[in-house]
Amino acid sequence: MQEIIAKTRTFRRFVEKEPISTAILHELIDLARLAGSARNGQPWQYLLANTPEMCARIFPHLGWAGYLTDWKGPVEGERPSSYILCLLNRNWLRGSEGEAQFDLGIASQNILLGAMSKRIGGCRIASFNPKLAELFVLPDHLQLSLVIALGKPRETVIIEDCRDDGDIRYWRDEHGGHHVPKRTLKSCLVPLQLRPAAG
Ligand SMILES: Cc1cc2nc3c(=O)[nH]c(=O)nc-3n(C[C@H](O)[C@H](O)[C@H](O)COP(=O)(O)O)c2cc1C
Repeated sequence: MQEIIAKTRTFRRFVEKEPISTAILHELIDLARLAGSARNGQPWQYLLANTPEMCARIFPHLGWAGYLTDWKGPVEGERPSSYILCLLNRNWLRGSEGEAQFDLGIASQNILLGAMSKRIGGCRIASFNPKLAELFVLPDHLQLSLVIALGKPRETVIIEDCRDDGDIRYWRDEHGGHHVPKRTLKSCLVPLQLRPAAG
């Protein structure tokens, strides 16, 4: 479990010519649908795109790696070969939208873990141009909330301990290695300090 979780990183450069079959995308959605869900509402549906034509239409609407200010996103040949568009079905919403977003966090992690178990890497993209949804004929109750880009990874991602100054910005080294600082175990733990019992 530790190994697959550690390997399931965000990848942003791919072997674009390696397709991902519709059957594999269906397997990933089959994992998403088993995720925990507040009130068991399961308000998410998924639109799958895995043809070069569809990918070319989607790509220009995506925002990549905000901390890498001098990088415009993957170049041609290194772009994702598939996308999963995550759509909130408002007719299936039981609780708050916040709860639905929790659900999507869990479901999307199932997708990324399942993908990595097949050596497919991915990137969640919340920073997309709203015009992306206009590419598709969608009923009003379906709202685009997240894009998951997928492909065969073509970059090395290194997780490392966050420095003491708390800088969490990811960065690239001179060989193109992508470094992701993670807060240390110690810094994630809050020391237990019990108040004296009243009376
Ligand atoms: C909800 C969410 C939205 C994200 N949106 C974007 C995005 O718009 N563009 C992008 O390049 N990465 C995006 N990411 C990827 C994060 O930048 C990435 O998870 C973070 O740098 C840590 O890297 P790791 O996933 O390898 O741990 C998003 C991640 C999450 C969980």
